[in-house]
Order: sequence, then structure tokens, then C-alpha cells
Amino acid sequence: MFNEEFRLEKPLRWAMIGGGRGSQIGYIHRAAAARDGLFQLVAGAFDINPERCADFGKNIGVDVDRCYSDYRVMFEEEAKREDGIEVVSIATPNKFHYEMCKVALEAGMHVVCEKPLCFTVEEAQELKALAESKGKIIGVTYGYTGFQMVHQVRKMIENGDLGDIRVINMQFAHGWHNTELEKNDPGLKWRVSPDASGPTYVLGDIGTHALYLAEVMVPGLEIEELMCTRQSFIASRAPLEDNAHVMMHFKGGAVGTLWASAVNAGGIHEQKIRIVGSKASIEWWDEHPNQLVYEVQGQPKQLLDRGHGYLYNEDPAVSANRIGCGHAEGLFESWANLYHRFALAMDAMNRGDNETLANLWYPDVNAGLEGVRFLENCVESADNRCKWITYK
Ligand SMILES: NC(=O)c1ccc[n+]([C@@H]2O[C@H](COP(=O)([O-])OP(=O)(O)OC[C@H]3O[C@@H](n4cnc5c(N)ncnc54)[C@H](O)[C@@H]3O)[C@@H](O)[C@H]2O)c1
Repeated sequence: MFNEEFRLEKPLRWAMIGGGRGSQIGYIHRAAAARDGLFQLVAGAFDINPERCADFGKNIGVDVDRCYSDYRVMFEEEAKREDGIEVVSIATPNKFHYEMCKVALEAGMHVVCEKPLCFTVEEAQELKALAESKGKIIGVTYGYTGFQMVHQVRKMIENGDLGDIRVINMQFAHGWHNTELEKNDPGLKWRVSPDASGPTYVLGDIGTHALYLAEVMVPGLEIEELMCTRQSFIASRAPLEDNAHVMMHFKGGAVGTLWASAVNAGGIHEQKIRIVGSKASIEWWDEHPNQLVYEVQGQPKQLLDRGHGYLYNEDPAVSANRIGCGHAEGLFESWANLYHRFALAMDAMNRGDNETLANLWYPDVNAGLEGVRFLENCVESADNRCKWITYK
């Protein structure tokens, strides 16, 4: 079982930028960070509107004096305090991520940032170098990768249960935006505006979740070349796509596809990864995250279930159960597993414990960087008549 007794000497003093009243993703950050007592929310720039920021902060238990409508002021003021913040999570629309990460690192913070980390590979490399030079952690909330069964797939592949990997099908294709809802939905409006969202919509908003899941599941997965087609079925969203297909050739001979869509009418989430090996296939679906469908050629289909003794159970922080088998764990547990690991990484960095850092998996700055690299390559292919391009 999960080790509930593990604690840091003191919880990390933590703030959020964004994630304010009515935001889609703010609450799960706070719930996940609070779960194991490793972070304490002490300040925030939750909203650019000062009254709303202070009112919201107060209502969720933050001292009003430590609610700031300008994140730069937050870093300046907090630096003056002995008990000032040490870690910040960034949960604003995409266009702010790069600048906020940079300013946070320069202010000496560890950072948890939403995906996509930034808009260009160059920016991501700059953030990576800055984090390294400052001795700080950047964690990226690819929130589905804290599920135990995702790591079970990796162990199965490492142990050869599937044989040689041949085909990887990834999809995250919901139907929620199959009409022009952005007219009345500010949370969608920025997502389909290039200045706020970046060079893509669905590829960056959801496609990179599926890609990163596959990267976690398949050890050493590297794209060699890809071809992408993207379109805006709601015409006003152009040049940003609400549907995209990517074909990939991986180093070592495997091939794959990724379908990202917001116009898959009737689809709730439809985030599925199917990995086909020479001996068997495995499938994970985020709407049933406690199960894996395992199909060995010539044998009846098997349903592997979280928490059982027949699973590989070697990694105490992610694969340990928070509750016994048969009870559903969900996205909140997956995110809590990630925040737990972010705290372990930040603590190890603070203590100069390089051995722990070297052996600790979590979605780090490289995960963010590779997501941005994927988007850049997809856009280059799609905007050049879907030509195959060598991955760079
Ligand atoms: N990891 C995931 O699974 C996941 C899921 C949803 C969204 N996201 C990402 O989270 C980010 C936020 O998405 P959302 O759907 O919550 O957006 P949203 O529009 O619902 O909320 C954005 C929040 O940021 C605040 N904000 C905007 N500009 C700000 C600024 N300059 N300073 C301080 N606060 C500011 C807004 O007041 C609001 O509270 C995006 O990057 C998105 O891609 C990730």
C-alpha cells in the first residue's frame, strides 16, 4: 500500500498562478498538491482581477495579504518574507506559460507548469537550461501518467510480455466542441485563438497527453519521421485545428498513429492507447483507468485490474495502491501521484540528492520540451501539404 507516513520536514510553501474561480483545472491542482501533506498553499495570483483574486483566495483559505493579482508582484513581495513561497504552479492560458516559468525560475522557485510548456522548442530549451542553472525542478502536469496501470504497461513491455513493439495507436478524441461553443465560453475561446493557445489547438490541448502516455508506456520510444494532417471543421477556428491525424515511424521499426479531435461527436473523452507487439497487445482507456485489456494471440482476452498481486508492483510511489483492489482510483489519485513525485524531486534537489533525482520518474522539463517539439513537427508537416518530415 501507499506509504502515508512519508512526510517532508515541512511542507513546501506553495503558490498558484491562475487556477482561479471558475477555472477548469485549478481545483485538481490544489486537491492533488494537498493530498499527501507535502505542499501548503500559502499565496496565489489566481486571477488578474484584484477583487476576485483576493475574494477567491480568502474563500479557499489563503491570507488576503498574500493574494496578488500580478504574479511579478507576488514574487517580489514573497521574497521579502522569511516564510515566502518556494514552489509555484502555473495554470493559466498557454500564452503566459513561458514568461511565468522564466520569471518564477529567476525568482528561485521550483515550478509545476501546465502543458503545453510553451510555444517553441527554443523557449523550452531556454527554460530547461535556466532550471538547470538555478538548480530547480520543472514538473509538467501530464495528469494521466500517474495512473498505476500506465506504469504496469511499461513494466510489461520492459519484461517482454508483448514481444517486439510493432504498432502504437494513440487517440484523444472528444466531441465536446463539435459546434462553435466558443462564442459563449471564454475557456474555449482562448483555446482556439492562436495568440493565447499557440500554434495548435487539439494537438497541444489533448494530443500531447496521448503521446506522452505512449512515451511513458514504451521505453525508449523515439519518433523518426511523421506526417500530420489537421483541419478546422468549425471554420472560424482556422488556422487552429479542431481535428488532426498524425502518422509516425519510430526508431527501431514500430509505426503509430495519433488522432486528436474536439469534434468526435458523441465521444466523451476517448483517450485510448493500444500497443501491439509481436506476441500480444494491450489497451488502456482513460474512462476505465483501473483496467488494461491484455490480448495474447491465441488466448482469451484478459482484463487486468488495478491493485492485484499479479501485477508488477515494483515502484512504491506510483504503483503502490492508495486503496485496495476493487475500489476505483481516478484522476485525482493520478494527479496526487504526480504531485507526490514533484515534491520528492524538489526535496531531493534542495538536498543535493542526485542519486534520488537520477532514479525518480516524473513528467519533467523534458516531457514538456518533447511535447512542444512534437507540436512544431506536426505543424510543419500539416502546413506543408502533409509531407513526411524527418523529426527534429
Ligand atoms: N493537464 C491537464 O489535464 C489540463 C486540463 C485542462 C487544462 N489544462 C491546461 O491548464 C491551463 C489552464 O486551463 P483552464 O482550462 O483551467 O483555463 P481557464 O480559462 O478555465 O482558467 C484560466 C485561469 O487563469 C486565470 N488567469 C488568466 N490569466 C492570468 C494571469 N495573467 N495571471 C493570473 N491568472 C490568470 C484566469 O482568471 C482563470 O482562473 C491551460 O494551459 C490548459 O492547457 C491542462
